[in-house]
Amino acid sequence: MRLVVTKMNLGLWAAAYIKEKINAFAPMPKKPFVLGLPTGGTVVDMYANLRLFYKNRLLSFKNVATFNMDEYVGLPLDHPQSYRSYMHCNLFDGTDFQPENIHLLNGQAKDLNQECAQYEAAIAALGGIDLFLGGVGRNGHIAFNEPGSAFNTRTRLVDLTPSTIEANSRFFLNDPHRVPKQALSVGIGTVTDAKEVLFLASGEKKAEAVAHLAMPGKDLNWPITALKLHPHATLLADPEACEQLPEPFKTQLARQMDETPTGEHWTLHIED
Ligand code: GLP
Repeated sequence: MRLVVTKMNLGLWAAAYIKEKINAFAPMPKKPFVLGLPTGGTVVDMYANLRLFYKNRLLSFKNVATFNMDEYVGLPLDHPQSYRSYMHCNLFDGTDFQPENIHLLNGQAKDLNQECAQYEAAIAALGGIDLFLGGVGRNGHIAFNEPGSAFNTRTRLVDLTPSTIEANSRFFLNDPHRVPKQALSVGIGTVTDAKEVLFLASGEKKAEAVAHLAMPGKDLNWPITALKLHPHATLLADPEACEQLPEPFKTQLARQMDETPTGEHWTLHIED
C-alpha cells in the first residue's frame, strides 16, 4: 500500500482524487460508481469540497451509489449525531444524489442481523464497492471495527470500546454516557473487498495508528493494518499524523520533503 503525505488540506486532496475517479469511470444509471463512505471530523472538508465541485458543475452524483460504513444503534434516525443526519447535512442534501442510490445502515431496525445481511447483499448486487473511503480511529479502528476484530469480518452489530466512546463524546456534549454503546458497522472484510481503498488520517492523535501501519506485519490489535492486505490502498495523512513513523519511513519522508519542499505530496510504499 502507499502512504501519501501532504501539507495540502486533506479534504481537498481527497475530493479532487474522488472527482477524477468518478469522472474517469463515466457512471451510467445501470452502471453506477459505488462509493463506501465514512463520517467523522476528518472528512468534513472532503465532503465540503465534493459539494463545491458539484456546485461548480465539475462533478455529478446522479449515477453514484453510496454505502455508509457505520451507524450508531439506538439513536433516533433524525438525531443530530446519527450518521444518517451527518451524511445528509455534509454531503447528500442539495446535491443530485438519487435517494434510491443512497444506502445507510439503520441502527433502529427491528432485526439488526437482518439489516446487516441485507446491506451486504445490496453491496454485492451493485457489483461491490469501487472506492471505499474512510477515517481512522485513535486506536486504529476502521469503521467501527475495534481492535481485535478479525480481518474477514462482514457487516454486523459491534460493541464500542471505552476509548472510542471517550473519543466520540465530543459530539455528545462531552458526556461519554450519552454516546451509544453499540453500532452497526461494515466489516474489515467488507472494506478490503472494495476495488480501491482511500483512508485519511489527520493530526497527532492519529500518529500512533499511522506508526503501526508502517510497522512490519498485520496486527489484529490495530485494524488499520488490514489495509496492507489490499493491492490498491492509500492512506492519506498530514505531517502531524506521521510524527511517530518508524524507520526507515521517517528518514525516507524527511529526505523526500527536503528534496522537494514545495511538493504537493510525498509517497512512501509500505509493503507487508
Ligand atoms: C468514528 C467512525 C469512524 C471514524 C472515526 C474517526 O469512530 N466510526 O469511521 O473514522 O470516528 O473520526 P474522526 O475523523 O472524527 O477522528
